[in-house]
Amino acid sequence: MKGVVLAGGLGARLRPLTKVTNKHLLPVYDRPMVYYPLETLARAGIREVMLVTGGNSAGDFLRLLGNGADVGLENIYYAYQEGERGIADALRLCEHFAAGDRIVVILGDNVIEDDIAPYVRRFQEQPSGARILLKEVEDPQRFGVPVIIGDRIVEIEEKPARPQSSYAVVGAYMFDARVFSYIAGLAPSQRGEFEIVDVHNRYIRDGDLYYDVLKGAWSDAGTFESLFRAGELARKTRLS
Ligand code: DAU
Repeated sequence: MKGVVLAGGLGARLRPLTKVTNKHLLPVYDRPMVYYPLETLARAGIREVMLVTGGNSAGDFLRLLGNGADVGLENIYYAYQEGERGIADALRLCEHFAAGDRIVVILGDNVIEDDIAPYVRRFQEQPSGARILLKEVEDPQRFGVPVIIGDRIVEIEEKPARPQSSYAVVGAYMFDARVFSYIAGLAPSQRGEFEIVDVHNRYIRDGDLYYDVLKGAWSDAGTFESLFRAGELARKTRLS
């Protein structure tokens, strides 16, 4: 299985921290933010990762990470996303790298306490489709939120004003090769982005989206509050 870390975008919600540097190079406790998703992939046994970056200081990722030995990888490939056209737009750049294989995608600002290896194993065992991870949170309206009937996800809503469950869709997604044709068929949303939630909903329409609920803590790091919490989580995990 191959891995993808999406670290594009402009990090506008973290200005002025991101005025001259890239959001994913900012410190989260004792290491740069982008180390966390890379180490999560390495811990799950993934050895080859495509890192998509964009915005400021893109060259610094190569200086920081090289081929990925410090984060437990054999090889990192790099791509550059022009502008900030959404998570699905960044993933589009990984089609050649995936080369028809299944992929595990983690957003560059996600700090995940769990070892995701058991979820990746379950994904490998499912015949086809996609797999996502959920976590119960106090502020679901900040995230993708699943509508769950029984134990089935019937839809995912992006940042709904009135969330229909207390779960957030964690920024770690597993896709089969269909993902790239689904992305190719997307239209931009009202905010001008190619939305990953539209890809998830496409898999739901196929009856081919599965999920697990994280056991451990999780935080994104895209706002001042969540960046602070991610640092606390990283510190707690490191010291435990
Ligand atoms: O963290 C989980 C959440 O991430 C999910 O629950 C949401 O469904 C998903 O849309 C996303 O929401 P955010 O509002 O947090 O996304 P944000 O725009 O902050 O982007 C998160 C990461 O995705 C960012 O750190 C880098 C990558 N990204 C984002 C955009 C918009 C790119 O690589 N390129 C982009 O154009």
